[in-house]
Amino acid sequence: MTIRPAQLAGRKRRHIDVCLTEDVQHGGVTTGLERYRLPYNALTQTSLGEIRLATDFLGSGLCAPVLVGAMTGGAELSGTINRNLAAAAQELGIGMMLGSQRIMLDSALGEDAATSFAVRDIAPDVLLIGNIGLSQLTKSTLPDLVKALDRVGADALAVHTNPLQEAIQSGGDTDFSGSVTRLRDVSEALGYPILLKEVGHGLGAAAVASWSVRGR
Ligand SMILES: Cc1cc2nc3c(=O)[nH]c(=O)nc-3n(C[C@H](O)[C@H](O)[C@H](O)COP(=O)(O)O)c2cc1C
Repeated sequence: MTIRPAQLAGRKRRHIDVCLTEDVQHGGVTTGLERYRLPYNALTQTSLGEIRLATDFLGSGLCAPVLVGAMTGGAELSGTINRNLAAAAQELGIGMMLGSQRIMLDSALGEDAATSFAVRDIAPDVLLIGNIGLSQLTKSTLPDLVKALDRVGADALAVHTNPLQEAIQSGGDTDFSGSVTRLRDVSEALGYPILLKEVGHGLGAAAVASWSVRGR
């Protein structure tokens, strides 16, 4: 069963509510960062004030190599969240990814949904990265993707791969066949820089290696 476009905004709102009201912290898995201890150099000759974190990424200057992760879009509250995040990104000089723009690709809902992704007016200088799922990429036309990116004033596109999430959520989009080939084709023709991300479990080394060897 595939989710109807009209249900997408409700599902996006539910994601936010779950994070706000339920216990979403993983019980057993940690980030692993607690295993690291950074060596301390008590005889440093560095002047902290001279350290520059600024960098260039995807053709934009960032004050620090930090991006706000893709989180939401499509529901009314998503718009408030995106605008707050965009204002913070603008003030800090860091980049920002929008949540999945899948809902914008629907002809009936696209215009309304676009409002919740509209942040350019308050974040004119931010590296803004649009977002679409790998599964939806396979089913979308190039002109529709470009239109969705143009509409929000994006500088680049992040494609998220989430087969596990799609498999376990009700109405998930579970057909990933041909998706990596499609990603390669779109990346060559899109006219926007494109990057691939996972949504919480990382891209496993074996998965990445298998595609870098096969190439397609
Ligand atoms: C409530 C919620 C909604 C998210 N929605 C999206 C989304 O629409 N698109 C996307 O690419 N990633 C989405 N993500 C994934 C995040 O961008 C990020 O990849 C994930 O939380 C892993 O972050 P970590 O690297 O800090 O663990 C969402 C995450 C959360 C918690």
